[in-house]
Amino acid sequence: MELITDITAMRSWCAAARRAGGRIALVPTMGYFHAGHLALMDRARSLADRVVVSLFVNPLQFGPTEDLDRYPRDLERDQRLAGERGVDVLFAPAVETMYPSETATRVVVGELGTRLCGASRPGHFDGVATVVAKLFHIVGPDVAVFGEKDFQQLVILRRMAADLDFPVTIVGHPVVREPDGLAMSSRNTYLSPEERRRAAAISRGLRRARELVAGGERRVEAIATAVEAVLTDAGLRSEYVAVVDSATLAPQHKVTQRSRLLVAAWAGATRLIDNCALTPSGEVIAP
Ligand code: PAF
Repeated sequence: MELITDITAMRSWCAAARRAGGRIALVPTMGYFHAGHLALMDRARSLADRVVVSLFVNPLQFGPTEDLDRYPRDLERDQRLAGERGVDVLFAPAVETMYPSETATRVVVGELGTRLCGASRPGHFDGVATVVAKLFHIVGPDVAVFGEKDFQQLVILRRMAADLDFPVTIVGHPVVREPDGLAMSSRNTYLSPEERRRAAAISRGLRRARELVAGGERRVEAIATAVEAVLTDAGLRSEYVAVVDSATLAPQHKVTQRSRLLVAAWAGATRLIDNCALTPSGEVIAP
């Protein structure tokens, strides 16, 4: 596996891969790989001839009081893990490479980026969309793979690709979970043992919601109240529990075949998110 840190070198590598007739898959990440990232790499490998994984902790998507400085980083370990997974290139540019001077231009996401996670993280999705647009321009992938754990991000990036005519297929990959149901996240490393134990209540809340829907409940308010109760009983502080249309993120009052349940909750000082489909006809699958 090659490690590339320079934009021109990355462009040349991609141009050569395309000339050789290869389809390129991109997996954008912020590194500190866990099983969720490795699953995205495997999915990318199944979709293309060449797999590029980007590793960039993007300052633009962190608010002034957020965890940019303490975000976990381990390039050596990430390089080893990506290499073992059959990734062709790890693209790991420095901040000065991606943002050489004070940048003026942003991708502005609009209303989709102001709701749910965007309500407490102003500017976050503009930062995500801006860096992903830059990565799409640098790599020119045929397909890009993102985790469904960041469901709002996935919907926003699909929309950005459509609105800005990026010739890329966006693929969402299902959430990968710890044995107790907690969604894999680099931020799980912030949790104390006690918070880690409590954090499993988020996936229990999702499961409770699916059970209610399987039992015939369709009222979003009743479902949200039940999920909040699971979170609160475990000592978590819920930020939002929302049922939205999975394509548009529009809030719903009644569950439909397109419903998605999205949760953000705090375990101590750590903000965790998770989500699952809420399909009336679907059986109850442990989220
Ligand atoms: O999901 C992430 O890790 C980041 O938001 C992304 C898509 C790599 C953009 O920085």
